[in-house]
Amino acid sequence: MGDPLDYDEQEARQEAAIYKTSAAADRRQRVRDLLHLQSGETVLSIGCGPGFEPLELARTVGDTGHVHGIDQSRAMLALAKRRCETLPQVTLTQADATRLPVMERAFDAVVAVQAYEYLDDVSTAVTELSRVLRPSGRAVICDADFASLVWRSPNPERMERVLDAFDDHCPQPRLGSKLEPYFRNTGLTIERVEPNSILNTNLDEDAFAYHLMQFITEYAADHDKIGPDEAQAWADDLHKCEEMGRRSSTSLSTSISFAKPSRLRQRAPSVDGVL
Ligand SMILES: C[S@@+](CC[C@H](N)C(=O)[O-])C[C@H]1O[C@@H](n2cnc3c(N)ncnc32)[C@H](O)[C@@H]1O
Repeated sequence: MGDPLDYDEQEARQEAAIYKTSAAADRRQRVRDLLHLQSGETVLSIGCGPGFEPLELARTVGDTGHVHGIDQSRAMLALAKRRCETLPQVTLTQADATRLPVMERAFDAVVAVQAYEYLDDVSTAVTELSRVLRPSGRAVICDADFASLVWRSPNPERMERVLDAFDDHCPQPRLGSKLEPYFRNTGLTIERVEPNSILNTNLDEDAFAYHLMQFITEYAADHDKIGPDEAQAWADDLHKCEEMGRRSSTSLSTSISFAKPSRLRQRAPSVDGVL
């Protein structure tokens, strides 16, 4: 199995189709609401993906503001650059979330949506986030717990095996339900923890579930515990369910919003390996 996040151009476009859906746009809107952004502010978008996030953040802070998007994937950044090319207030850089190439205290706000679940070292990423946020700055982190993916199927046993295999697609498939301990001892204050759920009642092309199904099918086809025939049979099961008028999927991620106190005493978090 290759690294699922080592996207080529076509894979990045497929991923972009997920983030273009109205469900993903609603989630980004909620994250922006939690950040309480003002015109003229500076925002860091960690794991900015195909560019919807920096584009929308840039429109919110306006042309006197600045949005810096970072992502480790060249293919994602190429899409993001095209999407944001008319917005001079957007800068996009290839970088790792655990080594942010920016000055400390540089940002009024930081956002990381479905990015930390792809990291081996979440503690270092959180320390980096805290470093680059200015005193009194705000941050929102949103990650999924893939155990919350509820998907109806006429073959529940196959569903369980495929979703079990899909857990391997990222290092932290349960991060959404165990994020809080990473912020102990960082000095950041948790202000709000809330669910961010997506419910799809069909598999139309605007449905998050439709694009997730394509992603899971391709991933499972390459997985040594599933393979192409079973992966396709799993997708066919979902279509059968839809023909029977059954709901397609729900999934839950958790958003946590933070404030950085104006005076901060910071110690390194140390939860990796303990949870
Ligand atoms: C699921 S996408 C989320 C995109 C975006 N945040 C959104 O909500 O529209 C996750 C992104 O995180 C990026 N990513 C994964 N690991 C990373 C790392 N170590 N450093 C920076 N970006 C990373 C991936 O390349 C991908 O573009």
